[in-house]
Amino acid sequence: MIHGHITGWVLALILFVVAFFLIKGGKTKGAKIVQMILRVLYLAIIATGVMMLTQVYKIDFQYILKTVAGIWVIGLFEMILSRTAKNKNTSVFWIQFVIALALVLYLGFSLPMSFMNP
Ligand code: HEM
Repeated sequence: MIHGHITGWVLALILFVVAFFLIKGGKTKGAKIVQMILRVLYLAIIATGVMMLTQVYKIDFQYILKTVAGIWVIGLFEMILSRTAKNKNTSVFWIQFVIALALVLYLGFSLPMSFMNP
């Protein structure tokens, strides 16, 4: 489960960057296709995340924060891509993105199921 989760968010991160540069390069059709795959990945990330949550003995504050931060990152993927496509300012969202991503990675890797905690 955890491997599916990691595969999901690593791929999502890569496709987010690909979609971003496709939009920037004016390749809207290509960007649309990548964004469609990206949305399927969101579902996979959330599904594997929820499945792991069901295996947790006690869902404490760290887990709640991890879940909220995870959904926050996904929301920011969407916000940044849609605002970039509309040529709107995205700096506030990029700042949030760095914070939310750092938080979700830190919490993910420090929680007990992580491969970083043998
Ligand atoms: C883009 C969004 C997300 C990223 C980058 C992310 C990242 C991570 C990382 C790095 C880990 C630790 C993996 C390991 O070291 O083995 C992890 C574990 C986990 N994630 Fe996510 N995640 C995201 C979204 C979510 C969401 C939306 C949920 C909940 C619905 C969720 C729930 C979990 C749970 C329950 C674990 C296991 C924690 C444990 O060790 O007990 N994640 N995630």
